Amino acid sequence: MKISRRTFGVSLIGAPYILRAQTGALRARIKIDTERVIGDIDPKIYGNFIEHLGRCIDGGIFDERSPLSDSNGYRKDVLEAVRNLNVTLLRWPGGNFSSNYHWMDGIGPRDRRPARLEMAWGTVESNRFGTHEFLTYAEMLKTEPYICCNLGTGTWNEAQQWVEYCNSSEDTAMTRLRKQNGRQAPWKVTHWGLGNEMDGPWQMGHRSAEDYGKFALEAAKLMKWTDPNIKLIAAGSSNFGPGSDWTGWNRTVLQFLRQHADYLAIHLYVGNPRNDFADFMASSVELNHRIKTTEGIIDAALSGQPGNRRIYIAWDEWNVWYRARGNAERGRRILEEHYNLEDALVVATFLNAFVNHAHIVKIANLAQLVNVIAPIFTNEKGAFLQTIYYPLQLFANNTRGQALELFLDGPTYKCARFDDVPCLDASAGFDNGSLVLNVVNRHQTQPIETEVALEDKQFSGAASVSEVNGPDIKAENDFDKTRIKTVERSATADGRSLRYSFPPHSYTMIKVKLV
Ligand code: AHR
Repeated sequence: MKISRRTFGVSLIGAPYILRAQTGALRARIKIDTERVIGDIDPKIYGNFIEHLGRCIDGGIFDERSPLSDSNGYRKDVLEAVRNLNVTLLRWPGGNFSSNYHWMDGIGPRDRRPARLEMAWGTVESNRFGTHEFLTYAEMLKTEPYICCNLGTGTWNEAQQWVEYCNSSEDTAMTRLRKQNGRQAPWKVTHWGLGNEMDGPWQMGHRSAEDYGKFALEAAKLMKWTDPNIKLIAAGSSNFGPGSDWTGWNRTVLQFLRQHADYLAIHLYVGNPRNDFADFMASSVELNHRIKTTEGIIDAALSGQPGNRRIYIAWDEWNVWYRARGNAERGRRILEEHYNLEDALVVATFLNAFVNHAHIVKIANLAQLVNVIAPIFTNEKGAFLQTIYYPLQLFANNTRGQALELFLDGPTYKCARFDDVPCLDASAGFDNGSLVLNVVNRHQTQPIETEVALEDKQFSGAASVSEVNGPDIKAENDFDKTRIKTVERSATADGRSLRYSFPPHSYTMIKVKLV
């Protein structure tokens, strides 16, 4: 394979290959101007997702039989790990599960709730974790809740009444029921999903784009008339398989929903089934393309609408998911991916992509929080943090404020899917005089010596450096071993220039005050 040098910005274009050792040091330059702002970073891009799937909720965040749980059934060790992750928005109850979830099954005394056959993932749903349990959990975490309505087998009434039950201050049958079930004040849930992955034939109640658009429009009207302050997330594309018209789906759906939807939801899962590190590391190139294409479709849908009408992208399911995927997705121990270092690096590049499109991507939810394709993994005795936990934690706790457009000049490579993939993938946030620079070195064997130069400010002194890396790209964590975690390093900056050598297969976050 050939590494070439060329100039590139943050939007990545790419072609296939395996990164291999080069003779001579690889070098790059990053120029930063704090006035070149992409947009405000919405903290909601650090969202997460819990579904009634496998051991995510039942046996993950909620386990009434566990000695590790509090008196309400919430696992205390999991709660602490979630708090440290700084989850800003939590999506529930699914996922595919939501498309046959009838929320009234999950309220009232737990012992009287009906058990139902769960057809999305092949279990029996006890309904012991429902609306009150979810919204209490969100309050405990101080995270914003995001409820995804059932627009599969559900009705307009059910969706409307769920908003009324949660948000209304009027004296109605729904709000009396809420109070009878122990909650006086409305929760005022802002974010509501108009169904999940309605473009997928695997979805219960799957429809054509026209049928979904018409149905979702009526639900949207009733929901917004119940509470005009809510924000609605339309089900955009999740089906990128052969023969699917993912752009056409979004176009049609927005024709119906452009006056009512506040966000368009898109999903993307990636993997490394051919064990091709260089190509896997370029996965965010695909993400960047899809963001750009979706933004264009939104712009087209809004043409002719009032100038202040906005629709943003909600990337409300994303992650690495390929090993624990296939035909056997039925039962309790499913979708239990064990993540390694390369997965953590891909997660960091996805977060870079969201920051680099901060003007349009305003929500993102990693799928999912615990056990099911998740950064936190439990058994009956405890929990451990998977490799992907660490980049999520660093981004969510530090990359805030305004996203900055970077000039990046450095080596690129070819891989199976793309030409000209930049070896360094970067994003930056600027908040209260602090610069946070996130850099993934996609090269498997070579460090990249980089000069970070400021255009309009000076570094105020020493920078703190956090690195996620490990002995090899396949290294994993487990209950009894932590091979991948965040390690603190340092760097010195001089006036306008900071030099740093980004190690191979690493994600590095540099945080420094500017004057
Ligand atoms: O996150 C796992 C599943 O992936 C979700 O239930 C579904 O929406 C998607 O296909």
